[in-house]
Amino acid sequence: MRAQVGIVGAGPAGLLLSHLLALRGVESVVVEARSRAYCEARQRAGVLEDGSVRLLRAAGLAGRLDRQGLEHGGIYLQFAGERHHIDFRALTGGRTVTIYAQTEVVKDLIAQRLAQGGAVHFDVTDTEVDRLESDKPVLRYTSSDGRRHEVVCDAIAGCDGFHGICRPAIPRHLLTVNEREYPYAWLGILADVPPSTDELIYAHHARGFALHSLRSLTVSRLYLQVDRDVSIESWPDERVWYELRTRFELPGSRWTLKEGPVLDKSVTPMRSFVSAPMRYGRLFLAGDAAHIVPPTGAKGLNLAIADVAMLAPALASLLRGDLGPARAYSAACLSRVWRATHFSWWMTTMLHRAPGADDMEAQLQLSQLRYVATSPAAATSLAENYTGYPELPI
Ligand code: PHB
Repeated sequence: MRAQVGIVGAGPAGLLLSHLLALRGVESVVVEARSRAYCEARQRAGVLEDGSVRLLRAAGLAGRLDRQGLEHGGIYLQFAGERHHIDFRALTGGRTVTIYAQTEVVKDLIAQRLAQGGAVHFDVTDTEVDRLESDKPVLRYTSSDGRRHEVVCDAIAGCDGFHGICRPAIPRHLLTVNEREYPYAWLGILADVPPSTDELIYAHHARGFALHSLRSLTVSRLYLQVDRDVSIESWPDERVWYELRTRFELPGSRWTLKEGPVLDKSVTPMRSFVSAPMRYGRLFLAGDAAHIVPPTGAKGLNLAIADVAMLAPALASLLRGDLGPARAYSAACLSRVWRATHFSWWMTTMLHRAPGADDMEAQLQLSQLRYVATSPAAATSLAENYTGYPELPI
């Protein structure tokens, strides 16, 4: 079989790349180890930068996003029993973010690709990439009916996440890997209850960080900092709600946290990871396959979108015989990746309580939080990074 571009992974990066290539007349085949139902159900991020929204809109993918997404003009930072609003619109000349779940982005992309006759194969096994140094790299996989396939491509995109097969296909000595694991994790719940806030609340607390996010006007998404090796059984619903109530409490105000049935509960480890370069021969990595950020800055999905926004035109040029943009791809992405890596690390370390942290550390965090909450210069830095820096060229 032949395909211009072989894409490993049907997450947001792989599916969006396939769509952006189709808009440029480039055909691709997407292979995914999981089932379609799994890809459409797994709970992930929920914040789109305004550049990501504009890109999805320009690509004709924003029908449901424009109807159901919730535009937010800021966030709340809570610390020392005070809640401060950071006004993104005022600080960045009108830029905002949109709350729309990654699972919904994936559903929209799968529906669009299949409606347009795109090749997306779920439940594949034994995926391999080969001959990456040649100008005819090969993608092999076994489809769900047990048949083995070999696809000769012009380029392969590794969009198969942190645990995927594509990054390990690059000789290890050619990669520079930077990694940091954080000594805590997030326990996330999805709750069938209207959010108790109009915009996200990021709360610093002596008992640990908490985040109040949402999925719609009737469904809340809440997170708690927990120990890294925690077992989910040690967090029954009652304990989760008690801890959320305590960490969001605002002494002297009438604000209360609305509680409801827990629909989903999971634990996410926290790590920063950057593997460079993002290209090896004709293999191009995008999204979590190349880099991971802790979720505190809401950057993971947006970085994946930014990667493929660069990769689609680079691959279209490569197919026309112009290799320049493909050669520039890695460095162009890594500049944004490192900005987001720093921002996510900064938000994470400012808001979480490290095990064994002393009062010195807590006072430094509180001073930084107060600076962001009271200085327009410091608040603008947060707002500019949160809404997306540098802006995506669309
Ligand atoms: C989410 O809604 O899942 C979410 C929001 C903001 C974050 C991380 C996750 O920083």
